[in-house]
Amino acid sequence: MYNEIDLDKIDLNVQPPTEEPARQYYYMAKCQEWVREFEQKNGHRPTAFTQTFGCQMNARDSEKIMGILKCIGYVETDSENSDLVVFNTCTVRENANLKLYGRIGQLKKYKKKNPDMVTVLCGCMMQEKEAVKKICTSYQNVDIIFGTHNIFKLAELLAMKILDKPSSKKVIIDVWDETAQIVEELPTERKYHFKSGVNIMFGCNNFCSYCIVPYVRGRERSRKPEDIIQEIKRLVSDGVVEVMLLGQNVNSYGKNLDKPVSFTELLKMVEQIEGLRRIRFMTSHPKDLSDELIEFMGQSEKLCHHLHLPLQSGSSRLLKIMNRHYTKESYLELVSKIRKAVPDIAITTDIITGFPGETEEDFNETLDVIKKAGYDSAFTFIYSKRTGTPAASMENQVPEEVVKERFERLLNTVQNTSAKKAAQYVGSTVYVLVEEKNTQEEGFVTGRTGQNYLVHFKGDESLIGQIVPVKLCESKNFYYYGEKQ
Ligand code: SAH
Ligand code: SF4
Ligand code: F3S
Repeated sequence: MYNEIDLDKIDLNVQPPTEEPARQYYYMAKCQEWVREFEQKNGHRPTAFTQTFGCQMNARDSEKIMGILKCIGYVETDSENSDLVVFNTCTVRENANLKLYGRIGQLKKYKKKNPDMVTVLCGCMMQEKEAVKKICTSYQNVDIIFGTHNIFKLAELLAMKILDKPSSKKVIIDVWDETAQIVEELPTERKYHFKSGVNIMFGCNNFCSYCIVPYVRGRERSRKPEDIIQEIKRLVSDGVVEVMLLGQNVNSYGKNLDKPVSFTELLKMVEQIEGLRRIRFMTSHPKDLSDELIEFMGQSEKLCHHLHLPLQSGSSRLLKIMNRHYTKESYLELVSKIRKAVPDIAITTDIITGFPGETEEDFNETLDVIKKAGYDSAFTFIYSKRTGTPAASMENQVPEEVVKERFERLLNTVQNTSAKKAAQYVGSTVYVLVEEKNTQEEGFVTGRTGQNYLVHFKGDESLIGQIVPVKLCESKNFYYYGEKQ
């Protein structure tokens, strides 16, 4: 277990071990020596800043990155004016890439003041050869680039930069196309002490025709159930009361294990963990949501009554071209089956407008599903062309002005349905996991209901991490004002 490893006891006079994670602990110990020299010279330890773009997967990866950096001895800061900056990137839509280029440029001024500053880029965008090429030619201030498959190697890459080639202007690039390896037992630094994401699988095999994720995250790989259970038990003994099981399609968990285990079987094991109060999961693909899971959602005492079930489009014709493997009708049937099993379930979704060839008729089918499914909320996206995906080479791309107008209508429809939905819960008393002090209002804290609604209510910081009953008094569409009972 990582927290039992004493870096000082690692012999640095021998060759680095070849097996993982021992090799990385060796490099962490080497970097730690460097941190001590830095501290002696400068009177303080080096600072590190990480910024995460994208989804929960990346957020969890960033916790692993900060875990390694803190183990080495870096001090976390919230400013880019730091000795080490890590941007953990996303590339799901074009604007994610554009945002990143701007941010790398802004770092130049800090590097000028602090020439030893180390800039690290990692994550999904780094899996794209074109993006890496552009960064290497346009931004000389980048030092280390790695991808999604070898985050565990951070200490080794850092050692190469700070110990072997501190003054080299050459960027260290280590991006893998694919991996079957899952390195367990590395340190993590959690953002919240009472809740945590837990990866149950990596990658995606679905190849939805618009989506770049399978190309940048590789093929589906499930962690062994015993590793997942051990990690959750450790988190619980560390004070965690809520876990979110993470995967691009959690419903296909376990299929590629030597001894296959279904997602529901895994959930049943997690449910048994004493001290754990709440279980969430993200994301569910409608094509793989089993009756077994629906039934268990109705029975479980710990599963939160929230299901994120991406629709993408309400048009069966487009869903086929998107390679989603369900129809408008089968999706709506699924929704009613879930509502029957779990009447107070909150359902949220992702919707894209502007997919190539989307007609007004197709778009109206999407609006129709929104009204019929009664979503609690929905993330809405304008289709973004991703090079290398099948949809990018489709000829009938929808003109920008048509998409913009549809996007407005989409937003309005989603806001209307979710406002109605949220109003229904006003007056009820629900359990809220208190997450943080409210930064806008003095004396208020903010938490989440099992259905994943945000609630602000009067209370002090001592409530953070506790699950308390709160009456929902006023609905503001995306959040509530409540009163602690
Ligand atoms: N694995 C998850 C989603 C991962 S990406 C799932 O299948 O549900 C998150 C969301 O980004 C997707 O659900 C989709 O709505 C959106 N998305 C993916 N590719 C996109 C693209 N090219 N343009 C616009 N939105 C996209
Ligand atoms: Fe992308 Fe589809 Fe995989 Fe989700 S399931 S990550 S949308 S390819
Ligand atoms: Fe973005 Fe990668 Fe997640 S592309 S949405 S950070 S899997």
